[in-house]
Amino acid sequence: MAISTKQNKLDALKQQITTDNVCPELAKGATQLVFGDGNPDSDIVFIGEAPGKSEDEQGLPFVGAAGKFLNQMLETIGLKRQDVYITNIVKYRPPNNRDPLPEEKSAFLPYLEAQLEVIKPKLVITLGRHSLNCFLPDLSISQVHGMPKRFKGRVYLPLFHPAAALYNGGMKQTLIDDFARIPLILKKI
Ligand code: URA
Repeated sequence: MAISTKQNKLDALKQQITTDNVCPELAKGATQLVFGDGNPDSDIVFIGEAPGKSEDEQGLPFVGAAGKFLNQMLETIGLKRQDVYITNIVKYRPPNNRDPLPEEKSAFLPYLEAQLEVIKPKLVITLGRHSLNCFLPDLSISQVHGMPKRFKGRVYLPLFHPAAALYNGGMKQTLIDDFARIPLILKKI
């Protein structure tokens, strides 16, 4: 599918979230919808949790401190942000950056699934436990990080969340090491 066609479908999906009035309370407290960013033709999609303050202000996912760290890690494997697609489970910033509620994650899941159906990436990289457990509810991030998991026709790579890793030296190094395996994992799929 041509990039433009995929982009058109993603634009329509973004519009649909507004039309369907998904999570009106969250929407009311947020500046704007943060749908996703990057190349819809990429082999890799990164999925975080929910927008934070900077993301809410700019309308783009992972543009704050965690995003800068993600960009740095992408560079270490020869990729730029524009080469991959980045999104979150929940598309509005939760108040005071609280964890997204189960019902908020469920409400956005069909749209996230639809996004993945349009992009059809080879590899879905989940960032943090919320994102992992959306797709693979029985797995624990501390046990499966860095290990690709095939499930229902998709390959997932669970990674620690960059925001959590930023302030924890051990976890940070683990995330950097797991990240370094992405090119080989992609090659093997
Ligand atoms: N953390 C997330 O999970 N997503 C963002 O977009 C930013 C920080």
